[in-house]
Amino acid sequence: MSLHLEHLNPEQLAAVTAPDEHALILAGAGSGKTRVLTTRIAWLIKGGRAAPANVLAVTFTNKAAREMLTRVTAMLPASPRGMWIGTFHGLANRMLRMHHAEAGLPQAFTILDSQDQLAAIKRMAKSMNVDEERFPPRELMYFINGQKEEGIRPREVRVTDETTKGYASLYAAYDEQCQREGVVDFAELLLRCYELLARNEILREHYSQRFRYILVDEFRTPTGCSTGGSSSCRAIRGRRRAAGPSSSRWATTTSRSTPSAAPTSATWPTSSATSR
Ligand SMILES: Nc1ncnc2c1ncn2[C@@H]1O[C@H](COP(=O)(O)OP(=O)(O)OP(=O)(O)O)[C@@H](O)[C@H]1O
Ligand SMILES: [Mg+2]
Repeated sequence: MSLHLEHLNPEQLAAVTAPDEHALILAGAGSGKTRVLTTRIAWLIKGGRAAPANVLAVTFTNKAAREMLTRVTAMLPASPRGMWIGTFHGLANRMLRMHHAEAGLPQAFTILDSQDQLAAIKRMAKSMNVDEERFPPRELMYFINGQKEEGIRPREVRVTDETTKGYASLYAAYDEQCQREGVVDFAELLLRCYELLARNEILREHYSQRFRYILVDEFRTPTGCSTGGSSSCRAIRGRRRAAGPSSSRWATTTSRSTPSAAPTSATWPTSSATSR
């Protein structure tokens, strides 16, 4: 169960063994980013630099998360208990189940997928006799999800005219219905988790101490991705950064993306990245 560091090219090796600091690794598609990230996790743990519980590794799709877990597990002698590896939504769900009371949710809350969410919106609109020509349910769903992704609750919606006023009040009614029924849509998972960490200093401090290593595969700019996900990581890491030098937020992304602020970055071109 070797890490096979000798099979990495020099840029990959430098990334795997980089010092404990924020880092953004840029490299082309298929060039070995996930391999670098998973090898780094195993290197941190096997070298005694981190306990599995100190590691939070996150990515976007279930498939990528499973891949990450499989690769890490293959490099470690025992299954990485205590490590959090998953998608933004999966990890948010995990955190909300653990801290459901603090998050204002029943422990057995149900997750609505997009279809369930649309059905819930239609049911609400019907019960309120909403004019569906004026407020089409699908449009309302996009509106609600868009607001949640920006971290905006109904009372904070920027009302510019009668239409946005209507959307804001339907968003409020939808949220009330969800709360009453103990259901959570995808965008809510992330926002609720973000709010939990942003508002609860004790929890934030706890996870900030615990997750000394946050690794994001396929890092994306906040636009079009998860306010809750990225910001929850920031909520944890932000305080840690102020608190001491041992923090490490680490991300990989393909080199064609335009990353947002990152203190350190390393790049390797697609062509030199692998010796496949
Ligand atoms: N230095 C290397 N030597 C040999 N094979 C490598 C090396 N680096 C990566 N690979 C192999 O290349 C393939 C792609 O690697 P990986 O999935 O880590 O790339 P990626 O940059 O994450 O890809 P994607 O852009 O699809 O997410 C894998 O099969 C991996 O094992
Ligand atoms: Mg990858």
